[in-house]
Amino acid sequence: MRHFLTLKDYSKEEILEIIALGLQIKNELKNGEQKQYMPNKTLAMIFEKSSTRTRVSFETGIFQLGGQGLFLSNRDIHLGRGEPIKDTARVISSMCDMVMIRTFAHSMLEEFASYSKVPVINGLTDSFHPVQLLADYMTMIEHKGADEPVVAYIGDGNNMTHSWMMLAAKLGFELRVATPKGYEVDSGIQAEAEKIAQENGGKLVFTNSPQEAVKGATVVTTDTWASMGQEDEKEERIRAFEGFIVDEALMALANKKALFLHCLPAYRGQEVSEAVLEGAQSVVFDEAENRLHAQKGLMVWLYQKQANR
Ligand code: CP
Ligand code: NVA
Repeated sequence: MRHFLTLKDYSKEEILEIIALGLQIKNELKNGEQKQYMPNKTLAMIFEKSSTRTRVSFETGIFQLGGQGLFLSNRDIHLGRGEPIKDTARVISSMCDMVMIRTFAHSMLEEFASYSKVPVINGLTDSFHPVQLLADYMTMIEHKGADEPVVAYIGDGNNMTHSWMMLAAKLGFELRVATPKGYEVDSGIQAEAEKIAQENGGKLVFTNSPQEAVKGATVVTTDTWASMGQEDEKEERIRAFEGFIVDEALMALANKKALFLHCLPAYRGQEVSEAVLEGAQSVVFDEAENRLHAQKGLMVWLYQKQANR
């Protein structure tokens, strides 16, 4: 049985297969066809953090596939009151067909998955946000930005950065990461990603200069400076990230046709300017919509793997 915890566990072929399936199902939907790929199946969705896109895309997605989503906030289930993860995993996976989890420590997700009888999907942890990258790459394909891309990630070395590193390492493209000093990526994840990149012809560059990272890039992306769980550090981070805003001056250094991506929610005037976010190069709302389509591809892919066991 396959879980979807990080892109590390997936080959290039599998990642592209999932995205292609998502694109196929998107196309069917746009043509008015809603095929019931997962009739009467249930997706449990455990949220220990807030969400707009992840919740709406998974719940709508499973519904469109013929199934039903169960929104389980940790305020409502016993997990939030201390029921062990291993007990929760065995109970939920004995009744549901798939589980999506958004949580803090990545180890919580791993523990849950190790006790689950059904596929578990990472809906974001402190370390990784891999479903977002499926949507991001799908958007790059659609906007003709997936042909030998050079991606510049500007900002915090966080779950999004780690996920971009894994995508670049697996698919074999160049990723340049610019973070302020003291906000670099996790060194263990970096070492792993660099090893994978070497095997697949990917290139990972780390710098403290946004200008150096963006020069000639064909995709520019960023993320919030204070992730969920870091609310107390917000003011300190705004000071530390001075000069890391993706604005028109920075975009001007990239390739003329460069795309701008952002997983959202965006903080205008902090990591990105209003002009860039709303500008002609920005594809952020297509990217957000693609969460629905990419994750439908993922759910059907996992479900078919499970059914064919
Ligand atoms: N990009 C993303 O995961 O958004 P939400 O936090 O709204 O789910
Ligand atoms: N890095 C952000 C991503 C939100 C989708 C966070 O973890 O809050």
